Amino acid sequence: MDFDKVIFLKKFNVHYNQVITIKDLEKLRIHYLGKKGIVVTQIKKIQYVPLLERKKIGIIFNDIKKYIINKIALKKKKIQLLNIQNKIQLKKQDFSLPGRRKNIGALHPITNMIYYIESIFVRLGFKIIHNGFEIEDTYHNFDALNIPNYHPARQNQDTFWFDTNRLLRTQTSNMQIHEIKKKELPIKILVPGKVYRKDYDYTHSPMFHQVEGLIIDKNINFTNLKWIINYFLDFLFNKKMKIRFRCSYFPFTILSAEVDIMHTNNNWLEILGCGMVHPEILNRFNIDSKKYSGLAFGIGIERIIMLYYGIDDLRLFLKNDLKFLQQFKRSRYY
Ligand code: DAH
Repeated sequence: MDFDKVIFLKKFNVHYNQVITIKDLEKLRIHYLGKKGIVVTQIKKIQYVPLLERKKIGIIFNDIKKYIINKIALKKKKIQLLNIQNKIQLKKQDFSLPGRRKNIGALHPITNMIYYIESIFVRLGFKIIHNGFEIEDTYHNFDALNIPNYHPARQNQDTFWFDTNRLLRTQTSNMQIHEIKKKELPIKILVPGKVYRKDYDYTHSPMFHQVEGLIIDKNINFTNLKWIINYFLDFLFNKKMKIRFRCSYFPFTILSAEVDIMHTNNNWLEILGCGMVHPEILNRFNIDSKKYSGLAFGIGIERIIMLYYGIDDLRLFLKNDLKFLQQFKRSRYY
């Protein structure tokens, strides 16, 4: 039998090296190892070979078969790997695929409004104080602010008490005392923060937010207060606001007022409390009330946002309802 293993395998390798796809590889396999393939046809010829030579040639063909099977398996792996790599490569460069968006959160409307209000007062030279005390004692929340024991604000129905002395602050005015105590005059601060009262309906929440303003300096008078409040409200609502100062009473101010703004359909709406710091408070901390005077104001944040957006149920702010919150995603004011 006229057969040269080396030449045969050389020819096979030439074919083999041309194969790129799995399909071609399969064709190659059938061409060589298929039922009518070259190898089988050659093996069939063995019967015409003299007995002595048959064994030798049989071994050669078995080797060839093994060799081809191995080579084909090897190539199959290679092609598959390449295909995967190509796919990854392609994916990397497919600019037409839709991007994966990250769902970025936004500031809560209350935080947003606090930042906005801060930015307005920063323009007027106020120092912003964060992290005021929310757990407070009766002295800072009440006594030092001239709110004596018998005052209704101290009754149990309003205040969350921890014990007979400690409570959740009912107003940011407690921060007036903490600042005045330091006696670093002049004082010109703005303190936003959470306050707590036992109340819950569509205009009251047990936790809500206030911003406290305080100036103590020489020659501070009620005109300064009126100017600041006017400036603040005009800036906030971005128009000339019609407002009125209505006489009121707060134990820690003398000349106390509540400020109303003219709302749609000719309604006056109360928006903040303010006044001149009671001289007793200054004297209590050895600040000469003949030399120094002060103004103070307290703004309810939820109230302002409700007005700003026409929201009528305050409880919405605390529900974490994305449908509600996402409406404010784009409104960043400062
Ligand atoms: N603390 C008052 C309240 O919670 C608001 C207030 C009124 C604050 C008058 C002030 C002020 O600083 O001068 O009702």
